[in-house]
Amino acid sequence: MSAVSAAPTPRPGILDIAPYQGGEGRIPGMTKPIRLASNESALGPSPRAVAAYREAADDIFRYPDGHATALRQALARHHGLSADRIVCGAGSDDLIHLLAAAYAGPGDEVLYGRHGFAIYPIATQTAGATPVAVPEKNLTFDVDATLARVTKKTKLVFIANPNNPTGTFIPRDALARLHAGLPHSVLLVVDSAYAEYVVRNDYDPGLTLAGSAPNVVMTRTFSKIYALGGLRLGWCTAGPAVIDVLNRVRNPFNVSSAAIAAGLAALEDVASVDRARAHNDVWRPWLERELKALGLEVVQGVANFVLARFLAPPRDAAAAWEFLRQRGILVRKVGVYHLPDYLRITIGTEVEMRAVVAAVAAFLGKS
Ligand SMILES: Cc1ncc(COP(=O)(O)O)c(C=O)c1O
Repeated sequence: MSAVSAAPTPRPGILDIAPYQGGEGRIPGMTKPIRLASNESALGPSPRAVAAYREAADDIFRYPDGHATALRQALARHHGLSADRIVCGAGSDDLIHLLAAAYAGPGDEVLYGRHGFAIYPIATQTAGATPVAVPEKNLTFDVDATLARVTKKTKLVFIANPNNPTGTFIPRDALARLHAGLPHSVLLVVDSAYAEYVVRNDYDPGLTLAGSAPNVVMTRTFSKIYALGGLRLGWCTAGPAVIDVLNRVRNPFNVSSAAIAAGLAALEDVASVDRARAHNDVWRPWLERELKALGLEVVQGVANFVLARFLAPPRDAAAAWEFLRQRGILVRKVGVYHLPDYLRITIGTEVEMRAVVAAVAAFLGKS
């Protein structure tokens, strides 16, 4: 045997995965940039969640409850669910990966919207399956196009509702139509990461479907309105068969004790969530109006961010991003989502919103 052996190689397809590109959080030489690139909460977490996190410090030598029982019970009470129909994860990304790995593999196809959340193709490729990006209409998930693309190979459909980075959503009747048109053998994953921000009567986060249909999962996160992204905490609800599968494949201690403690406290602090939603209800429309007044095209979204279109050079999205960055403001480029002309701007504090509008005005020569 040769002393120099070949390096281990991963499974076919793994090296085709384009690593996830997160929003940037740092600018060299600048201590506190304005961070509007990761859809984090404008107002930060509940002080009660922070206190619970600190209190949990004394016990970090112990393993967490591997079933996150107290948190699942609290989520069940909060959402009118049964605790045994809930699984928690290290962020909803964790659950998305587990679902793809458990239900899809080589030769299978997984459908998602062309501008859908970037983790779907990554989780699909990690599982060895083939991601299929279905064209959208008006930057919105297209139910008919998706149903038309279903074949015998289709194992999963991912929909973020509302979607990141577009912010668009499909209403209750369209979600029901999507589910009704899918074969029972296809698992529909409704990713409702931004559900708490949506204030529309025709919006459905997928709770009822996940409670009644054996082939629907709804995923949720504590990273957005609950503002606990750094702790990595998500959850999902589904029928007993899917829950059983997730409990077989997940890591036994996939949620830390600190995340459980903070999540419990955050859930109880309803006033904090109401404040965050109310803030968003003021400042998202405000930012949309201001950007439109500057002549930009803005996608009508319902989450905690705005997607704005910058046209031709020299005033294109890449130049705008750099201009803002030089002024200490980080927003998100969305070229990887096939939206090279757009920038996604998270709703921040009033000061941050006024700063980003002033900087965009300066960039466009309209200040
Ligand atoms: C649509 C959507 N789903 C899921 C996530 C993942 O959230 P987390 O893993 O922090 O729960 C995000 C985060 O940006 C998202 O935008």
